[in-house]
Amino acid sequence: MRTCRTGCKKNPEKTVVAANDETVKIGFSMDTLKEERWLKDQALFKEAVEALGAEVEIVAANGDDALQITQAETLIQQGIDLLVIVPHNAEATAAIVHKAHSAGIKVIAYDRLIKNASIDLYVSFDNERVGELQAEAILELVPKGNYVYIGGATTDNNVHLIKKGVFNVLQPAIDQGDIKVVYDQWTEDWSPEKAFLNMTEALAANNNQIDAVIAANDATAGGVIQALAAQGLAGKIPVAGQDAELAAVQRIVGGTQTMTVYKPIQILTEQVASLAVRMAKGDTITTARAVNNGKVDVPSILLAPIPVTIDNLQDTVIKDGFHTQSDVYGQAAK
Ligand code: GAL
Repeated sequence: MRTCRTGCKKNPEKTVVAANDETVKIGFSMDTLKEERWLKDQALFKEAVEALGAEVEIVAANGDDALQITQAETLIQQGIDLLVIVPHNAEATAAIVHKAHSAGIKVIAYDRLIKNASIDLYVSFDNERVGELQAEAILELVPKGNYVYIGGATTDNNVHLIKKGVFNVLQPAIDQGDIKVVYDQWTEDWSPEKAFLNMTEALAANNNQIDAVIAANDATAGGVIQALAAQGLAGKIPVAGQDAELAAVQRIVGGTQTMTVYKPIQILTEQVASLAVRMAKGDTITTARAVNNGKVDVPSILLAPIPVTIDNLQDTVIKDGFHTQSDVYGQAAK
């Protein structure tokens, strides 16, 4: 019986063993803990794996591709039974998949697809739907006018899916001449500071004649709203985000952000933990859908994202305990 090396509180009643009769050990290689959501992914995934009686080793590479590869090599040498990866760079991470497979270890891509590698499973939220939900909410409020699109980091495959979703919805209005996308820029490393600079540039280039902004996540939306505030426009121009970060939900309550897209991380972590442990024990997973990653049709599970505005905050992020009433509305709301 393998002793618990990570100081994890394994579920004493329940220990799940791999084909080699040792406690199943899952490796979780994360890109970053920079955005608020990843801290939830880290904590909830650990909880979900340990609740199944397995062990988990979690590492984060702080957006550094070389470090992510080295960290994964270490996990493989430590004898993990299965590797779960949130890639920083969709292409560069393919090297890790080859190393894991050479060691007989299967790989699950978590939230973000790994390109051009024979990964075994991909589990995420429907990112194209995320973009559609953002654009539907904003187009309803601003059917005519000048739009700004602030995309995410191009190293992340999700940004292309989100943007495709946004333009699935906006294109008819663009073709009709009702709306004009006057500024469209990616944001390196999802940096709020870069989003602030891009939005400042967009305002200057258009004499502040902007009617709506769609930002790929709440971190970049925060940078956008700071730039709007600098021109006295915060709360006057609808802004969409993603991730239901606490600061974003507070901005929605305060009226400077219009909506965000909530992705119940609890569901994602529990699904991936259960699938990872089953695969580590040798189970074969079949899925209803597959996503082509440039090399193979990857068996995939895409979960449903949820649009959140001031109208359904209570019934979504607060009801689920994603954020507390007092965190969102302040102590007074207790
Ligand atoms: C995306 C993820 C988003 C967002 C972003 C920045 O891949 O789906 O939730 O937070 O990364 O880390």
